[in-house]
Amino acid sequence: LASAEVDISAIAPGQSIKVMWRGKPVFVRNRTEKEVAEAKAVDISNLRDPQTDAERTKPGHEQWLVMVGVCTHLGCIPLGEAGEFGGWFCPCHGSHYDTAGRIRKGPAPLNLEVPDYQFISDDRILIG
Ligand code: FES
Repeated sequence: LASAEVDISAIAPGQSIKVMWRGKPVFVRNRTEKEVAEAKAVDISNLRDPQTDAERTKPGHEQWLVMVGVCTHLGCIPLGEAGEFGGWFCPCHGSHYDTAGRIRKGPAPLNLEVPDYQFISDDRILIG
């Protein structure tokens, strides 16, 4: 299927789900206020792949992070709520991603990819 509709209504703050889209895992995380605040507080001029938190989320739905769960180094699947920046950690070669999925440390060159998606209601998204 080119697109995937996902019901996010049961994902509590601080929880994530993984869905498959075009053969790849996609992480959907309902971030806590603390995670959002940490992501927004980062000085992006120091980042390897500079992106603001707002560039990685949708207006009015800032707590939601939707990302392809494939490390941008060599394609392993990162672990959630892990690593030195409170986001994701790729155990293959040690890449650390922050609470916006941005690369912060380790060999990965880019942030975790945000796929095309949209909110079709407050509790449903369409990926792709
Ligand atoms: Fe993730 Fe190498 S594949 S750090």
